[in-house]
Amino acid sequence: MRKSIIAGNWKMYKTINEAIDLANGLKREFFKLDFASVDVVLCPVFTALSEVAEVLNETDIGLGAQDVYWQDEGAFTGEISPVMLKDSGCQYVIIGHSERRQFFGETNETVNKKIKASLKHGLTPIICVGENLQERESNNTFKVIQDHIKGSLQDISADDLLKTVIAYEPVWAIGTGKTATPDQTQEVHKYIRDLLRKMYNQETADSIRIQYGGSVKPENIIELISKSDVDGALVGGASLKVESFSAIVIQASEVKK
Ligand code: 13P
Repeated sequence: MRKSIIAGNWKMYKTINEAIDLANGLKREFFKLDFASVDVVLCPVFTALSEVAEVLNETDIGLGAQDVYWQDEGAFTGEISPVMLKDSGCQYVIIGHSERRQFFGETNETVNKKIKASLKHGLTPIICVGENLQERESNNTFKVIQDHIKGSLQDISADDLLKTVIAYEPVWAIGTGKTATPDQTQEVHKYIRDLLRKMYNQETADSIRIQYGGSVKPENIIELISKSDVDGALVGGASLKVESFSAIVIQASEVKK
C-alpha cells in the first residue's frame, strides 16, 4: 500500500512573517492529524525556509524547496545548492515544475542533474511532469509524459527512484480552475506506472508514489485521490490558506484505499 502525500507549493507567495503565520496555522490544524495515513509537505520560498523549519520543528510536517541547483557550491550567482537546502531544514525539493520549464529554461537534462544532486544529499525530489493544452489537444499527452519521465530519470537506479515522488501536473489545469477529471488523471497516472514497470520492474512501479497537481481544492480532493493510481496531490493556490489546505489534507487522510 502506498501512503498518500500532499504537498503545498507556495510558489512566489508569502513574506517571511506571512509564511510563519501560515505554517503555525497549519501546525495547529494538524495537531490531531493521523500522520500514519498521509505525508504532508510545505514548500515555501527560499527566504522563508529556515523560519518555517523552526515552526515545523518536532512536528511530522515535512519541508521542501521549490527548486535546486546541481552543484554543491561555487560561482553560480543566484542559485541554491542541495547542501544549503539541507542546511535550511529541507527534506524535499520540487524539481522540473512546469513554471520552471516554461519561464526559466528547465529541460529534462537539467531536471535529471538536479534529481541526482538532490538524492546524493538525501533530499526527496518531487519530480514534475505534464503536458500543455496544445500537446493534449494534438493527442501527444503520452508522448510528452514519456519524454519527461525517460529524460528526467536517465541513469537513475530503481533504488534511487524509490526515494523520489512523481507529480503529474497537466499545465492546462494549473492555476486555471480547470481540474483534470478523476478519469483523465487516473489514465495518465496508470500510463506513468506502466512505463516505470517497463523501465524498472513491477515492485518499483508499484511502490512509487504519483501525485496529481492542477487546481486541487477541498471540493475535488476525495474523488481524485480515490483513484487507484493517484497517491496524493501537489497543491498550489489552495495551499496558501489554512482552511483550504487543511481541508484537503484532512480529507485525504481519511480516504481508505
Ligand atoms: P494550482 O493548484 O494553483 O492549480 O497549482 C498547481 C501547481 O502548480 C502545484 O505545483
